[in-house]
Amino acid sequence: MELSTNEIKVLLFLRDANKEVAENEIKIETMSDREISSAISWLEVKGLTKVDKSTISQYSLGKEGNRYLSEGLPEEIAYSILRKEGKIPLGELFRRIGDKEGKIAVVQLSKLGIKPIGGVLNYSEIKNFEKIIGERKRFLEMVSSGVSVADDAELIGHFKKREGIIAEKKVTERHVAITSIGLEYLSTYDTTAKIDSLTSEIITSQEWKTKSFRRYDLNVPVERIYGASFHPLTYLINKIRRVFLEMGFSEMHGHYVEYAGWNMDALFIPQEHPARDLQDTFYLESDTEIEFEHPEIIDIVKKSHERGIPGYSGWGYEWGKERAMELLLRTHTTVNTIRYLYEHNEPPVAIFSVEKVFRHESVDWKHLAELFQIEGAVYSKDANISSLKWLMRKFYERLGFKDIKFIPSYYPYTEPSMDAVAYIDGREIELGGSGVFRPEVTKPLGLKQSVIAWGLGLERLAMMYYGLSDIRDIYESDIDWLRNYRIRF
Ligand code: PHE
Repeated sequence: MELSTNEIKVLLFLRDANKEVAENEIKIETMSDREISSAISWLEVKGLTKVDKSTISQYSLGKEGNRYLSEGLPEEIAYSILRKEGKIPLGELFRRIGDKEGKIAVVQLSKLGIKPIGGVLNYSEIKNFEKIIGERKRFLEMVSSGVSVADDAELIGHFKKREGIIAEKKVTERHVAITSIGLEYLSTYDTTAKIDSLTSEIITSQEWKTKSFRRYDLNVPVERIYGASFHPLTYLINKIRRVFLEMGFSEMHGHYVEYAGWNMDALFIPQEHPARDLQDTFYLESDTEIEFEHPEIIDIVKKSHERGIPGYSGWGYEWGKERAMELLLRTHTTVNTIRYLYEHNEPPVAIFSVEKVFRHESVDWKHLAELFQIEGAVYSKDANISSLKWLMRKFYERLGFKDIKFIPSYYPYTEPSMDAVAYIDGREIELGGSGVFRPEVTKPLGLKQSVIAWGLGLERLAMMYYGLSDIRDIYESDIDWLRNYRIRF
């Protein structure tokens, strides 16, 4: 067993002391109290010292205690008035020394033998008064100067009952003694100073040739140190980003706040669609004007909603501009896709985003009101239902989901639409929606080729990755989980 120079110094001290010593009595030149304390702990772990812990009370003066020490105790002040004046009505006493002090003085004097009669205090001699007050004040002085008063149970009891005079603090004291193994160690091992750490001076001065070094002890138990690590969600987002980037997609970014016109109308979502109700969407009020980017789409969108496009009949209702001008927190990242494609309408384009969306949902084990959506889209002459299925299979496979099925679904902006489901441990898990954008979406906005897109919730995915049974756990930040999380695939 190798000991550090500091450990050896403490061990030698304890051997010479030849008895149990309080930790604060161990004084070693060149060592700070902290170093001594740490050496004691190590020696204990190694079995070379025995450490007894005991809890003791330490006292200090409270606010009142300090004041009484300089101005006198209330009972002392009142007694000296009494002695001079013979008697004093309580009201008069309270006025002269204060209500609070007055009451305390009456209580204390009563205990010593002077009780008020008919609202008046009358002087009579209290035996040993000077001695009693002297002891009380000496006690406060000792507390004030940090001298131990532990032996004086009576006065401790007395002042603990009186408010604000003394404050008690429990401290744990360690008493240390060398063990027989410790003694044996000192008699068997070479305890001459060894070098603990190698410095450049030791090398350049060639001191290393003559000195011996402390061996490195790999068996010493040490506290585990946790390095920084990514939040599980960040880890997953980075992984998803990598999958998309490796598949040749580029990342797009959108805004939290959108016009309904972009979030819904541009995607051919009819104005009476249930998703536009307050139930699902957070609408916003704003005093400042926010630019509606690309206002030229308003008329185009109105036409496709009301009358459709050649070959398609539209929804056949009267479209209102005001509803398109409502501000909201985006409800899906498909708004990123449609905006991006309108602004970059030269195919081929392959884009993705991993961004937040907001829905007016009540939060429970599988719903959040604020969640991340993963969105992927391809704009190309080769974009069709079979390339979509192929692409999604590849994408999910890279994320670890091998067994994927597609089931028919409905979104107002895609036709056909389908949802992807995965099978994990025999359970069916929804992975999100997808489809081929309807011509009523692409054609009016000047998109020349077809668009396929899919979207899924990041936190649902995280639940599967990390085996969580409650979606809220992701944001609870349980420190144990953050340190020890492992992915399942
Ligand atoms: N936007 C849909 C949702 O929020 C998902 C989706 C994306 C569907 C792309 C079709 C195409 O659930």
